Amino acid sequence: MPSTFAWWQRGIIYQIYPRSFQDSNRDGIGDLDGILARLDYLVELGIDAIWISPIFPSPMADFGYDISDYTAIDPQFGNLAGFDRLVAAVHRHGLKIILDYVPNHTSDQHPWFRASRSSRRDPKRDWYVWRDGKADGSPPNNWISEFGGSAWQWDEATGQYYYHAFLKEQPDLNWRNPQVAEAMLAVMRFWLDRGVDGFRVDAIHHLIEAEHLRDNPPDPDWRQGQSPARRLIRLYSLDQEETHDAIAAMRALTDRYDGERVLIGEANLPIDQLMAYYGTHSPGFHLPFNFHLIKTRWEPGAIAALIEEYESALSAGAARWPNWVLGNHDRPRVATRVGREQARVAAMLLLTLRGTPTIYQGDEIGLVDTKIPPWRVQDPWEKNVPGLGLGRDPQRSPMQWDDSRNAGFTCGAPWLPLGDDYARVNVAAQAKDPRSMLALYRALIALRRREGALSVGIHLRAIAVGSILTFRRFHKGRWIKVALNFSAQPQQLDVDPSERWRILLSTELDRSNDGVASLLHLRANEGVVLGRTT
Ligand code: GLC
Repeated sequence: MPSTFAWWQRGIIYQIYPRSFQDSNRDGIGDLDGILARLDYLVELGIDAIWISPIFPSPMADFGYDISDYTAIDPQFGNLAGFDRLVAAVHRHGLKIILDYVPNHTSDQHPWFRASRSSRRDPKRDWYVWRDGKADGSPPNNWISEFGGSAWQWDEATGQYYYHAFLKEQPDLNWRNPQVAEAMLAVMRFWLDRGVDGFRVDAIHHLIEAEHLRDNPPDPDWRQGQSPARRLIRLYSLDQEETHDAIAAMRALTDRYDGERVLIGEANLPIDQLMAYYGTHSPGFHLPFNFHLIKTRWEPGAIAALIEEYESALSAGAARWPNWVLGNHDRPRVATRVGREQARVAAMLLLTLRGTPTIYQGDEIGLVDTKIPPWRVQDPWEKNVPGLGLGRDPQRSPMQWDDSRNAGFTCGAPWLPLGDDYARVNVAAQAKDPRSMLALYRALIALRRREGALSVGIHLRAIAVGSILTFRRFHKGRWIKVALNFSAQPQQLDVDPSERWRILLSTELDRSNDGVASLLHLRANEGVVLGRTT
């Protein structure tokens, strides 16, 4: 264990979905100047870094995850001068800035793809994954796009199919071609030279496909109503060995820069497969995103088992630092999934576990998914496969700042509807309420900052005792014990009176510094953090 810790180990990351954070020019879409205007809010919240979802020129088929120019800013968001101003301001405030980096695919409007599809003889033809159809003209194999339908798109002009793991407007780059790797590393260099502190690397497990392109086998566990892509076990289209060489090259480049730049990988994989993303033969990601809190049943036994499984998988490799995520722009809101009361318990869990937490914008005020009427649907996934609940608009509705028109998000017409609760659930109201969700987030973040045991301490044994989840943290003579009541009934927990615990924080924000005798009483949906010094 190193004696000093990098900022991305000690710190807390906050995800900004820029279209929905703050609009400054009345077009109903958030932008960079909007983020700039809200920096004070983020400083007061106490986070250490912002990660901004893509802000690059894009036809917006997948709202910025289809990039047509990697080294510029989409005019909807601002321009490069504005970006430089934002970086300077973020750093002046003592924060870090992480950009989204999308290496798996470009937009079909990117000049590289336009060239590639112009002719089979074009020098950029091999920059994408082109294949002949089968003898009967059907696609090269049975692979299914993440957003539904075949993952192969027929191109009439050149008489071949191209591969797209996501939309047909997002053709996959061919990372087996060294020129592609080189061009994409140059993109990283461009932004690192401009002062960004790292990248969140998109859809990395999709980066490379098996060369033989065999059919993927069917998944016997798939049920009607689930995502169509899950009908197949993505044996040959996901998580290929060669991906780690590409990640190692990204890491080697990043390590050439000073100032602890960070690489975070988005790989939605089981824990055992995820571990390889820390690096196999050479260093990989500092933080391969761990999405398992989102996917695990909200039940103390299941969560305790998850924590222990993750901790023991990590312990096999010295340089593996943990991280935890409760929500993002792709997943239903945590307050919708577990309910508003348990969302407070979830916040306490996220901010007391060992490992870097990432907070999704709006979770700190307990936003829930917004109902999107069919005529306002924006997400292409919902449009492609409607009615399965896969659409991501509900968790992308605009940030609720105050009770003025459109919640202070925009003076124009918002690109997605606001939550209908914004008059009540908003930053301004919660900033005044000492027991609000926002107050809880601020208190938890401040506590994590104050207590080395929470930010960098070791983790000891998560267990479920009835409806209560407990675990301990330890650092330099200081012990922390976390006890979370997952039920809507009061519970009690035996504690050893000789240990002399004191309550540091309750999710109800109404008791602190009380001593704990032999029984700890927890109210319905209450979590507490206890502390003691040896
Ligand atoms: C990632 C992003 C998601 C996007 C997809 C394709 O999973 O988080 O929003 O649609 O990649 O880029």
